Formats: sequence, C-alpha cells, structure tokens
Amino acid sequence: MPSTYFIANWKQNHSIVSTKEYINIIAQYNNPNAKIIICPPYPLISFFTNAKLANTDYGSQNLSSELSGAYTGEVSAELLQNFGCKYAIIGHSERRQLYHETDEVIAKKVALAIAHKITPILCVGETISERENNNFINIIKHQIISGLNNIGSQNNIIIAYEPVWAIGTGLVPENEQIEDVFNLIKTTLTDINIEHDKVKILYGGSANTKNLANLLKISSMHGFLIGSASLDAENLIEMADFVK
Ligand code: PGA
Repeated sequence: MPSTYFIANWKQNHSIVSTKEYINIIAQYNNPNAKIIICPPYPLISFFTNAKLANTDYGSQNLSSELSGAYTGEVSAELLQNFGCKYAIIGHSERRQLYHETDEVIAKKVALAIAHKITPILCVGETISERENNNFINIIKHQIISGLNNIGSQNNIIIAYEPVWAIGTGLVPENEQIEDVFNLIKTTLTDINIEHDKVKILYGGSANTKNLANLLKISSMHGFLIGSASLDAENLIEMADFVK
C-alpha cells in the first residue's frame, strides 16, 4: 500500500525552542504507512537539515519565482535544495490572496522547483462564492492548467485540493464533493498529458483528528496538507496513526 502523506504547513508559527522540541518528538516516530513532511518557516528549515531525521522529510512553504539576483526578501530554489528541501508548497491560497501571486508566477515557481529536484505541492481550490456560483470547476481546472504550464508531462508533482472556505474555518466538504474535485483534477491532468496515477492528490482545509477517519474513506485519497492541526507534533502523530 502506498503511504499516505501528512504534510505539515506551519505557516508563520513556531520558534527555535519549539522547533527543537517538535523535532525531538517526531524523530521517535516511525510509521511506514505515513509519509510525514514538515514545511516550517524559512529560518527553521536548517534545524531539519541538521537533524537528519530518518523517517521525516521537510520542505518550504514557498520559493522565489526567479533563479537568483536582486529580489529582496526572496529565497531561491537552489538554496532550498542546498538545505535539503525535497518539497515546496506553491500557490497556497494565502499566497494567492494576500500576496497577489499570479498564475504566471506560480507556474514559474513550479518549474523552478522541479528543475532543482524539489517536488512542488501545487495548491488549488475555490472560494465560497466560486463554490456557490458553481464556478469552481472552471477555477480549479484553470489553476491546474496554468500552474503546470511550464513543465510538460513531468509527473513528479503533488496537488493539494484546498477549498479556501475550508482553510482554518473548521468547515470540511462532504466526501462526495472532494471526490468530484479529485476526479476533475485527474481528468484535467490527462487533458494536459500528465499521467494522473503518478500524481499524489491530497486534501487540505481543517483536516484534524476528528474528521480524518471519514476523509480516509475516500478511496483515491493520497493524504493531507495540514495547517493548525500540524502545529503540535503529538497531534500530527495522532493523525498519522490513523494509517498505522
Ligand atoms: P488548516 O490549514 O488545516 O489550518 O485549515 C490548511 C492549509 O492552509 O494548508
């Protein structure tokens, strides 16, 4: 059975002290059915580099859309690769909404990640009004086609379906709604000549220990992108234990 992904998106949380404590706890955990990936803020990545954890990978929450140069405040894919990041979250709705990331910028980031052997975790998902207007199909299709525009048929990618209205709200779609979007993602990948069965498709948005068992009933569920419920190492482990 392929392992289920539990990707922790720490967002702008955690300190040096709490990161060290977190690493100590997660270092003890070994569950061959769960693939745990931690995405801390940039300066905390080096603690994961140095910890050399046997059973846990790590990545970034973003990366620069440019190779190198005069881009104040940005961090290059090359530097993240140097620090051992194997994954990068790209196009999170908070980046799209708060930092006005465009489809073009997201596509550049996805391509740069792949060029540096970093697996992009491309986030897609509709707002509540897009869901209510029934416009979400077009929105999600567009986010996938534009986000993967520069990578040809490369399939070393992860797609996280994160409805904007489910992030940090405690609201979770019905399983049928998630399944419909997963199917849409698969057909869209096929349309652009990417083998969908090679691509991991995850769900994100208020996933926690209370709703995980139900979400795991979705047969094509490859895992989760987890925000607030991932901030506590024990809680993340409790979630990963669902696939033990
Ligand atoms: P949440 O965040 O689990 O706190 O809803 C998920 C995300 O933003 O990736």
